[in-house]
Amino acid sequence: MDMTGRRALVVGASSGIGAAITEAFAGAGARVVAAGRRSDRLDEVTARAAGPARAVTPMLLDVADEASARSGVAAAAEILGGLDVVVNNAGVMLSATVQDSDPAEWERMVRTNLLGTLHVSHAALPHLVASRGTLVQTSSTSGRVSSAGSGVYAATKHGVNAFSEALRQEVAPQGVRVVMVEPGMVDTELSEHLSDPAMRALAARMAGEIRVLDPYDVAETVLFAVTRPPHVSLNEILVRPTEQVR
Ligand SMILES: NC(=O)c1ccc[n+]([C@@H]2O[C@H](COP(=O)([O-])OP(=O)(O)OC[C@H]3O[C@@H](n4cnc5c(N)ncnc54)[C@H](OP(=O)(O)O)[C@@H]3O)[C@@H](O)[C@H]2O)c1
Repeated sequence: MDMTGRRALVVGASSGIGAAITEAFAGAGARVVAAGRRSDRLDEVTARAAGPARAVTPMLLDVADEASARSGVAAAAEILGGLDVVVNNAGVMLSATVQDSDPAEWERMVRTNLLGTLHVSHAALPHLVASRGTLVQTSSTSGRVSSAGSGVYAATKHGVNAFSEALRQEVAPQGVRVVMVEPGMVDTELSEHLSDPAMRALAARMAGEIRVLDPYDVAETVLFAVTRPPHVSLNEILVRPTEQVR
């Protein structure tokens, strides 16, 4: 799984799945711009990543801010001299039942998970068309199945899938691959941001009952997808822990 000479932007690279993807890409020989809002965590990821000297460049970017998302993509393309792979991985999960929800949290999820993905994708397209590149969208099992307590999160991930399938049809003739990755439960910081104590306890209990995925399990899957020959497009990858039922 060789990425020598490939130029990648990973958005949402400061922890969890995005950090693991960054390390996997750099370890496979890619040059990577690792983007997110927390500079200390991006510096840690940059220091951990193996690969060619200065393989990873940290970049501050907030996908919930359209101007930041768009200028970040332009800056990454400038630093790398183009883009072969762009990973839309930034996301927040602020689950609660609809009745107990704070609409401000709905807005944050929509701005980050859905609109952020739209703006980054749109800004990246000219670069990906030029390189006949690959766009990876981190969706979720919640992009396929909606569950009580995670309606708005699921709505954002269903939205990512709907957008990505339409985009795939539009850009396939130009040689651009769109890959949706739909992980089940992964051991990351995602549930630590839940403001509802009952949902936090539920997430911890569910994660404790089974052997969940490690971020590197997902990163390896993404690395596999982006290193297929150009005529092979893995459009949709659902990857659950073996014991996860739904
Ligand atoms: N963990 C799971 O079980 C699971 C399952 C299915 C799908 N996913 C999806 O996987 C993706 C990564 O999540 P994770 O589980 O690895 O959790 P995580 O460790 O909390 O990582 C989330 C990443 O998103 C970034 N991010 C959040 N808001 C952002 C913003 N406004 N602008 C830029 N970056 C932002 C964070 O960086 P900063 O905070 O530094 O900005 C961080 O790098 C998400 O899209 C999530 O929905 C996770």
